[in-house]
Amino acid sequence: MSSNEEKPLRAIILYDSRSIGGSTDRLIDAIGRELVATGAYVEKAKCRAMADYSFVRDFDIVILGAPVYYLVVSSQLLGALVQSNLKKCLRGKKIALFLTCGSPEPMALTLYLPQLKVHLVRNRILSEKIFAPHQMDDPDAVADFVDEIGEEYEKAVSNKRSRSNGLQWSDEALEMLNSMPSFFSNKIRAALETYAKQNGITLITPEVLDEARSSPMGL
Ligand SMILES: Cc1cc2nc3c(=O)[nH]c(=O)nc-3n(C[C@H](O)[C@H](O)[C@H](O)COP(=O)(O)O)c2cc1C
Repeated sequence: MSSNEEKPLRAIILYDSRSIGGSTDRLIDAIGRELVATGAYVEKAKCRAMADYSFVRDFDIVILGAPVYYLVVSSQLLGALVQSNLKKCLRGKKIALFLTCGSPEPMALTLYLPQLKVHLVRNRILSEKIFAPHQMDDPDAVADFVDEIGEEYEKAVSNKRSRSNGLQWSDEALEMLNSMPSFFSNKIRAALETYAKQNGITLITPEVLDEARSSPMGL
């Protein structure tokens, strides 16, 4: 994973857990190893509610995660989002979220994950994952999480590149593009942008996609 052609992508895992060497510690080490295997530079830091989080500005991706204890996401991570400058330092950051817990996923998505997401309404969430007890030591579950982070990061970065080209994508068109596998969406993106430029179009919408598909040159 790289943030551009020269520099490796920089990711930090900010986490909390009451346990030392427990399931969350093992999980973040596995996530870290998987990220490093993709070429990323990775650090981890255990949260304190009152700390200075200015250092997160140096990272391209921030992964936030913690266990749930008695229905509440572990307190130092939640505390950091409420009491410190963490939320401010996360502005504009691409974020991935995970929780470790014993509850079924629907319950965790409804009751626990919103405790973090309510603080991150303006952030791009690349991936969110609930790790059930049987998944915490499962290399496939970790690899899926890291793959999704990488794919969504690439999409977010290439969307930004398009915007800086002077071309705008409507939310509906971006949603269509982002729902495609990245290999396919990259080709469609490039073809549509060429079509838009050739035809003086500055806003790419689903209608432009239809128009380009039915044009004599196709996509
Ligand atoms: C004291 C305690 C309370 C817990 N409360 C909950 C809970 O309310 N909901 C839940 O889904 N899991 C709960 N769990 C399960 C933990 O979230 C899960 O085991 C997690 O992986 C623990 O992480 P750790 O090993 O880093 O401490 C609880 C576990 C403990 C030890």
